[in-house]
Amino acid sequence: MGRLAITGGKPIRKKPFTAWPAFGQQEARGLQKVLASRNWGGFPFPNKYADAFAQKFARYHGAKYGVAVSNGTIAIEIALKAAGIKPGDEVIVPAYTWEGTVGPILLLNAVPVFVDIDPDTYCLDARLIEAALTSRTRAIMPVHLAMRFADMDEICRIAKAHKLVVIEDCAHAHGGKWRRKGAGASGDIGCFSFQSSKLMTSGEGGGVITSNLEFYERAQSYTNCGRASATDQYHHRMIGFNYRITELQAVILDAQLDRLPQQAKIRQANMDYFAKRLRGTPGLAFLKHDRRQTRTAAYQFVFKYLPEHFGGIPRAAVLGALQMEGVPCDGLFYEPVYKSALFPIEPGDWPALSWGRKKSLNLKTSFHCPVSERAAYEESVWLPHHIFLGSKKDTDDIADAVLKVCANIDELRGLKHPAIEVKSMGRADRPRIEKRQW
Ligand SMILES: Cc1ncc(COP(=O)(O)O)c(C=O)c1O
Repeated sequence: MGRLAITGGKPIRKKPFTAWPAFGQQEARGLQKVLASRNWGGFPFPNKYADAFAQKFARYHGAKYGVAVSNGTIAIEIALKAAGIKPGDEVIVPAYTWEGTVGPILLLNAVPVFVDIDPDTYCLDARLIEAALTSRTRAIMPVHLAMRFADMDEICRIAKAHKLVVIEDCAHAHGGKWRRKGAGASGDIGCFSFQSSKLMTSGEGGGVITSNLEFYERAQSYTNCGRASATDQYHHRMIGFNYRITELQAVILDAQLDRLPQQAKIRQANMDYFAKRLRGTPGLAFLKHDRRQTRTAAYQFVFKYLPEHFGGIPRAAVLGALQMEGVPCDGLFYEPVYKSALFPIEPGDWPALSWGRKKSLNLKTSFHCPVSERAAYEESVWLPHHIFLGSKKDTDDIADAVLKVCANIDELRGLKHPAIEVKSMGRADRPRIEKRQW
């Protein structure tokens, strides 16, 4: 019997952490109000509470206009459509992101071009963008994740120089700020998700923000079956769909936005304390904080586990041990999209991948992004935000568990245990580990 819980020792924590999502009287009162009104859906668009929330959310992030929509993937599709992305256009995306960042590009028969991430931020590496531009590039889509922002100064500079649109995927960045501007407001359009795990949620839901009236009108029209937007100054007509959000979701989101700043404060204080406790631990490393990021959105606390320091013991074993100590955690949270089983793409299925090319572009084999691959398969550790919404003692438990696993890591050498199958977003680390014979 060892000291670690995975080898029979006593776990650091048996109690669950703060439950998520959080809600209170404000959500309950809002739902009662909408139920009684019998006006539950998104029609007549943009409807009362959905529009009020969308404008409040946009203002909170420093944008002029907002549209509340059915989910974050759809928000990206709407943004691409609003920005006028056409079949065959190329869109620069980071390789390390959720597959839902990329799917809408293909759905519009445009072409995603994967670029690697910056090892200091895990976000799109702006230094690599120019080399990936072609005469067909129309947009850059940074994804702000891991409590960090992509370098928006450099991305906006490149976009301006090459007349490209910047669409920010802010699914992890509610309330974050770059140079005092809210997430989604430094570029042309910002897209948000309100799915259950996110920093604010209505179960499902999404948001699009922009300060460009023309983009706003197109986004409204596309969300509302192609009908004219409320202002209709540009008279855009297009085929659209029903991507509206319901009034029931909108009142929940309004309350969630009100509680976001206070939650962010608690999370930040606990995460700062956690980082202080872990800093200096050999074999662990942290992403860098950029001073231009003036407010952090902490969807997940992400740090690096450096397997070479621990004699090659793989991350999956460490995560299994950490989970057995009572700390929820994840490793293979994202993969380079081009390698993902959730991206089973056949070049023949997407006509634009062969237009104007001698051989059609194979999205599975044409890209190699080593920083994304290392983050995904070896080093990143993701801790969910809600476990940092509790007390200092909760945070001490998380830090104690990580430090305990590091201090007793030799107990994991060669260990076979069901907990060492880290399932994450439908993926599993295990087959890769077995192949490596650690
Ligand atoms: C980075 C990123 N982009 C887009 C999305 C899509 O959001 P949704 O799940 O609301 O469709 C997500 C959701 O997990 C995400 O994490």
